Amino acid sequence: MANDILFEPVTMGAHTLKNRIIMAPLTRLRAVEPGDVPTILAAEYYSQRAGAGLVITEATQVSFDAKGYAGAPGLHTDDQVTAWKVVTDAVHAKGGKIVVQLWHTGLVSHKSVRPNSETPISASDVEVGVRTTLRDSDGGAIRVDATPPRPATIQEIHQVVADFAHATKCAREAGFDGVEIHGAHGYLLHQFWTPHTNNRDDKYGGSKENRARFMLEVIDACVDAWDADHVGIRISPLGTFNEVEDRNSEAESVWLIEQINKHGLMYLHLSEPDWAGGEPYSDEFRQQIRDAFDNLIIAAGGYTAEKAVKNVEAGYIDAAAFGRDYIANPDLAERLREDAPLNEPRSELFYGGGVEGYTDYPTLKKVAS
Ligand code: PHB
Repeated sequence: MANDILFEPVTMGAHTLKNRIIMAPLTRLRAVEPGDVPTILAAEYYSQRAGAGLVITEATQVSFDAKGYAGAPGLHTDDQVTAWKVVTDAVHAKGGKIVVQLWHTGLVSHKSVRPNSETPISASDVEVGVRTTLRDSDGGAIRVDATPPRPATIQEIHQVVADFAHATKCAREAGFDGVEIHGAHGYLLHQFWTPHTNNRDDKYGGSKENRARFMLEVIDACVDAWDADHVGIRISPLGTFNEVEDRNSEAESVWLIEQINKHGLMYLHLSEPDWAGGEPYSDEFRQQIRDAFDNLIIAAGGYTAEKAVKNVEAGYIDAAAFGRDYIANPDLAERLREDAPLNEPRSELFYGGGVEGYTDYPTLKKVAS
């Protein structure tokens, strides 16, 4: 079959993935507040999707300070570890593998979701005009302007590094197969990497070495907290999502990937700009990225089975992540194997709420019965 290459197993650190169809991290904003604890429904939602070679969870806070969206879960308290253990057990019981995406949202935040209604931190005080998502009184999602940020102090930077390490330990305890550091999409680590939002004049700003320092320190801390075989990272070279422009050139992006590669991480996850209206990567850039990174490369961004087969066959990537299609098709891998039609996602149910638009999408089997 035309899609066979997507069903060849592939190595991810100490693990073997059964196929190359990955469930992308997807914000769903259904965690319980206060406490930012995932519900039992999350266990059902993720385990329904265990046919993926790898499930990557929604972005998950490393601390209460890291929060930017109402309803996003965390992984830093005992209650959260207990709740996530139910999720990982459910996915493992169905033969799946699952890693947790860890984030600090930085300037994509609102003071109402932050401890003591504090001003969000970023690299600098640059306002980009982004919005974030809160809850209305009925539990529905509403979009609001983010609170303008202030620059993080050196002490706060060190604290965030320590928080990523703590969350990585929590992930191990909760039974995850690894962690994914969110270094993409204009969130905190990306805010330091791009000159658009970083005009610091200390050792975390200015040169590319300085702007990459925070991300590389987080990588070190997560590797120390577990090991390189259980730590991956997502970045979005040349992206503009969240109004944060990645103003690094292709050459600087490749340089960053070379630095990341020195840490021996289990994977590099690229979010390509075309999912959010940017220019597609050139084949030359894809090849440079491939040459810069030794282990598994996962790519996301407007992927269809056809685009995945093309880029895996060319050797640019090893696996492809699917977002919206995984929201609407719990058995996406099975459907791609059979070239079966896909359910359409209901975007009005992406954020907040309960079962509807979350765990109620039918599988092929369900449709047939
Ligand atoms: C979103 O909620 O729209 C969102 C969150 C995290 C991302 C991208 C998008 O990395």
